[in-house]
Amino acid sequence: MQLLDGKAISSQIKSEIKAEVEQWVAGGGKKPHLAAILVGQDGASETYVASKIRSCEEIGFTSTLLRFEADITEAQLLEAVESLNNDPDVDGFIVQLPLPKHISENTVMEAVNPAKDVDGFHPINVGRMCKGLPAYISATPFGILEMLIRAGIETSGKHCVVIGRSQIVGLPMSILMQRNTFPGNCTVTITHSKTQNLKEICQSADILIVALGRPEFVKADYVKEGAVVVDVGITRVADATKKSGFSIKGDVDFNDVAPKASFITPVPGGVGLMTICGLLTNTFKAAKKEIYK
Ligand code: GUN
Repeated sequence: MQLLDGKAISSQIKSEIKAEVEQWVAGGGKKPHLAAILVGQDGASETYVASKIRSCEEIGFTSTLLRFEADITEAQLLEAVESLNNDPDVDGFIVQLPLPKHISENTVMEAVNPAKDVDGFHPINVGRMCKGLPAYISATPFGILEMLIRAGIETSGKHCVVIGRSQIVGLPMSILMQRNTFPGNCTVTITHSKTQNLKEICQSADILIVALGRPEFVKADYVKEGAVVVDVGITRVADATKKSGFSIKGDVDFNDVAPKASFITPVPGGVGLMTICGLLTNTFKAAKKEIYK
């Protein structure tokens, strides 16, 4: 079994971007600028956004955090989005999800200028990705592809099973894994809460990507000997032995599954750390106007 080490790969990618940014700025380019909108006080969102902002500082980007109370109206939030759309200094921005229930996430995502949509959530970016056109690929799928690339994992002709059909992970992942490129050329099965015989389907997976949000759901009897197992789960589970009061669990029972896997991502220290790299890569592309001229 080999570990797909998100900590090592993400720090390698960050140092590569940092070096490229230095070159870009030395050649007269503008420092990439990422802005983030954070609504309310969700603990996990606070942690993610803080980590995104910190990573920007580390690699030489400018960053801006715009915070709003949870009772902001949808119209007020749309105004904030519009002002970032029109701010020439901001190359890309994100609206951290989830949003409070009274705000439509789809409406907000569609309000973001696709050229600044570095989360890759706008229907135009999703559509371009589906057509194989240059697009911002969203953070988690980007992170998983990059792990497969850097570990040199063969994907062509393999059976890739994705558990979960979320707009952010499962759906884009299944589309990316069937593309006629590397990584890709898989035969993809996308599974979800209504799938029958889930365990049997997983047992035939060469590459199993698990994104359903149920801690330690996948056990060894779901996994074929030698499979590549990618765990996207990050659930906070109460843990009195931890100072924070919780520990982070993946969707895969790591100790049970690891002995059977050829490659496996740990949690924490796996896919989660890779996601920020996608956001940083997209923001740099936005600053260089690589996708939208
Ligand atoms: N919430 C969970 N993941 C993400 C992400 O990748 N982007 C944003 N904006 N919100 C999230």
